[in-house]
Amino acid sequence: MAGDIIIAIDGYSSCGKSTLARELAAHLAYNYIDSGAMYRAITLFFLRNNVNEQDPAQIMKALAQIHLSFIFNSAHNKSEIHLNDENVEHLIREMVVADKVSDVAAIKEVRSFAVGQQKKMGRKKGIVMDGRDIGTVVFPEAELKIFMTADPAIRVLRRFEELFPANHNLSLDEVRHNLEMRDYIDTNRAESPLTQAPDAVLIDNSHISRTEQLHMALDLVKERIAVLQQ
Ligand code: CDP
Repeated sequence: MAGDIIIAIDGYSSCGKSTLARELAAHLAYNYIDSGAMYRAITLFFLRNNVNEQDPAQIMKALAQIHLSFIFNSAHNKSEIHLNDENVEHLIREMVVADKVSDVAAIKEVRSFAVGQQKKMGRKKGIVMDGRDIGTVVFPEAELKIFMTADPAIRVLRRFEELFPANHNLSLDEVRHNLEMRDYIDTNRAESPLTQAPDAVLIDNSHISRTEQLHMALDLVKERIAVLQQ
């Protein structure tokens, strides 16, 4: 639709990017793409097939066998990621994947595979995508960029509460360690490290509600569209 924009949301692990991105997309009738789910699904394939991350030939062979798609599930009212036609939306949230995903996402070949597909998804605009490099690498031309952050202790608690119902063996320490490790690897890797784009608006949602953050973001969308239509 004319007037549709690209909204890029980046930030640290578990700071509510997906929640905001999904709610924004629903309000605007835009597509929502969880780019992290793509890296998680690739990681699941690598784990299942014992792909050696140090071996570029094995990596390329594995990537050639991976087909990723997002399919809307009306029962859950959201798009879910499919790896070679298998719905892996729940499997990719498990700790075994979370422990490995940042290493896999740091691989150059993996990034060009995922980024190439992500860029195509934005061709028609009307999209909200969240991740680590959306405003810097995938859509540097995005009309609205948001960089999210939150107090680390709050992020740990939120992620723990999200995962605990499905895994009663989980400890707060395990979650804390995973988030610290991923933030470190994501921020320090050579290939498109996590960083705030100079033109991104910073939202710290440590002490604001889901509704408040949604309204802040919707106001930003309105502002950007108004400027574009001038
Ligand atoms: O746990 P959280 O929802 O915060 O992370 P995610 O969005 O599911 O992303 C999982 C991991 O994928 C991140 O820790 C990054 O290592 C990687 N990722 C990335 O490198 N680039 C993206 N655009 C999105 C995710």
